[in-house]
Amino acid sequence: AGDEAFVDALPKVELHVHLEGSMLPGTVLALARRHQVEDIPTTETALADWYAFKDFDHFLRVYRTAVQVLRDEDDFALLARETALGLAAQNVRYAEMYFTPFIHTRRGIPIDEVFAGINRGRLEAQEATGVEIRWITDIPGGLPGVDILAVADLTVQFAVEHGGDSVIGLGVGGAEVGVPRPQFARAFGAAREAGLRSLPHAGETTGPRTIWDSIDELGADRIGHGIRCLDDPALVARLRADRIPLDVSPTSNLRTGVVADYPSHPLPTLIAEGLAVSINSDDPPMFGTTLRDEYLHALRDLGLSRAAVAELAAAAVRHSFLPEYRKNVLL
Ligand code: HPA
Ligand code: ZN
Repeated sequence: AGDEAFVDALPKVELHVHLEGSMLPGTVLALARRHQVEDIPTTETALADWYAFKDFDHFLRVYRTAVQVLRDEDDFALLARETALGLAAQNVRYAEMYFTPFIHTRRGIPIDEVFAGINRGRLEAQEATGVEIRWITDIPGGLPGVDILAVADLTVQFAVEHGGDSVIGLGVGGAEVGVPRPQFARAFGAAREAGLRSLPHAGETTGPRTIWDSIDELGADRIGHGIRCLDDPALVARLRADRIPLDVSPTSNLRTGVVADYPSHPLPTLIAEGLAVSINSDDPPMFGTTLRDEYLHALRDLGLSRAAVAELAAAAVRHSFLPEYRKNVLL
């Protein structure tokens, strides 16, 4: 009981959460019904079963099917508003949130409609609660039959056009296996030149090479996941020396099968190595978690002290791209 009050009292920042992975079960069911989308479970129980992922690729296939319930501007506004309000209810004050324009444009939904919707929802939630959301546009790796460099160009073009507004960074996600990071050097170079941050996923399902490439070729400002850095002591030394933060998501790693269970999760080791780390929810309803739950798991299942967990919350504030004067208010 004390743990919950402790976690609720921490002012929190979320650095790694996907908008499309944040659809509440009731919303998935309601939108699937409204738009008569096939291949989507029709009860909450069936949906929970559908979210029992065999491995990371299975998770990605379900993810790409689930997003099909998002059809029009109002759907995107609803999703962004609900997601932001859900964060506010957990005492999350600010979030840097991935969204993946191409998984919608490839289904024929105009990017302007998506963006108008998510910004409407974002601002409605901000007005109601004060919670602030900034977007990270994500390049989706591993889509079958897709020219990923063309997608990267479109994604960075969109990010650059809207950078300085509500978009703060460029990411690459989806599959890591078979999607080497150096090919995105030009896209990330253009984004960085425009003042956007470089926020690639790396070292979740592949090893140190992907993280090295994200640092050396993409100029990573933070690494999404990055837990496999522990396979290479020289990489750990580099991350520590350059203070490149890792956005760690323990329950995500368990549910996609990249880590076996909480006791074997590397978060305590990453901390002991002196790395800059925060904890995050990634795709909370799909993984049966929330950011609040991640903090509770850190206390109860990863063996971290309250002081260590408070430090994780402060680290997320420091690793964010809030202006310094705004960080000071939260620290
Ligand atoms: N990794 C890669 N891509 C993703 C993830 C993730 O954890 N979540 C949603 N898209
Ligand atoms: Zn992610």
